[in-house]
Amino acid sequence: MGGELMRAVVQREYGGSGTWTVEQIERPTPGRGEVLVEVEAAAIDRGTWHLMHGEPWLARLAFGLRRPRNPVPGRDLAGTVTALGPGVDGFAIGDRVYGTGSGSLAEFTVAPVAKLAPMPAGCPAERAAVLPVSGQTALQAVCDVARVQPGQRVLVTGASGGVGSFAVQIAKAAGAEVTGVCSAAKAPAVRSLGADHVLDHRVDDPLAVPADEADRYDVIIDIGGRAPVKRLRRAVTRDGVVVLVGGLGGGKLLAGYERAIFGAVRSPFVPQRIAMLASKEQSADLERLSAMIESGAVVPLVDSVVPLARAAEAMASLEAGRVTGKLAIRI
Ligand SMILES: NC(=O)c1ccc[n+]([C@@H]2O[C@H](COP(=O)([O-])OP(=O)(O)OC[C@H]3O[C@@H](n4cnc5c(N)ncnc54)[C@H](OP(=O)(O)O)[C@@H]3O)[C@@H](O)[C@H]2O)c1
Repeated sequence: MGGELMRAVVQREYGGSGTWTVEQIERPTPGRGEVLVEVEAAAIDRGTWHLMHGEPWLARLAFGLRRPRNPVPGRDLAGTVTALGPGVDGFAIGDRVYGTGSGSLAEFTVAPVAKLAPMPAGCPAERAAVLPVSGQTALQAVCDVARVQPGQRVLVTGASGGVGSFAVQIAKAAGAEVTGVCSAAKAPAVRSLGADHVLDHRVDDPLAVPADEADRYDVIIDIGGRAPVKRLRRAVTRDGVVVLVGGLGGGKLLAGYERAIFGAVRSPFVPQRIAMLASKEQSADLERLSAMIESGAVVPLVDSVVPLARAAEAMASLEAGRVTGKLAIRI
């Protein structure tokens, strides 16, 4: 295995999508508890964007102070296991899997088996690949943190994005009445996901407080924009829940996560529950997502499928806000 080459996106310094080039580099070798996956499809999202820019700066402590420690970007993957590292149980060469690895914008990547699951039955690799990061984040926000119940009124901000497009569908599957917030051009896509109401963040004020408390939201899954926590809190019922997932447009040091941290710290002192989500990647949650895909309750919203050679262009589109749902990368 050692010394064999593969094509991969390579990034040697932090910066914009111009730092991404496609090169021939050595294939990685799986370590303990990891497998080598021949990647059929990968995906990019805001997390990949954050790591590309090295923001929040605090994350550089883990990902490399001056340049990315792993020069190959990308986490989401769908593909076939081609080699097993030491101590791997329950996976075999030839298994088709999806999940998260380190450096999935490449022909081969290594991934811990604890972050992989069998690919959902009947799901093409390009659809499976957009699920792991965004789907698990949405699942945990809606089901595990907010614990959405049938009949609840749920507001999802950032409903047209990677996480939001899954959150809308998962909240609908839980029996909620869902209002999605996005830009006008993406409203038809959010309606097609099952949202009962769609608001435009450039025109409407989704957090306007209704006179009657019964008309407030039971749950806000806050993914897009950076509304002050106080405003989010006032838009939910007294026993409502606000889950702080995203913080687009924040400062470089904490990339907006300071809002979520301070919001969660204040939670014990206010009637509503304010929770910050730090999503986890784990096989059990991928299996829960697979069941939703196989039952048809969730259908990944794939904006387009782009070849590896055009990954930098795809990232530039994401950066410019032109993507609806997720972008898949065909390897
Ligand atoms: N907490 C966690 O564990 C976790 C995990 C994954 C992601 N995240 C975070 O979640 C956020 C979203 O990630 P993503 O991958 O879903 O991003 P994305 O695909 O780029 O989607 C961004 C969404 O935000 C909306 N938006 C943009 N500007 C807005 C504004 N001013 N007001 C309201 N909405 C606005 C966009 O709507 P339009 O394009 O229609 O304008 C779009 O729906 C990011 O901050 C990411 O870092 C957090």
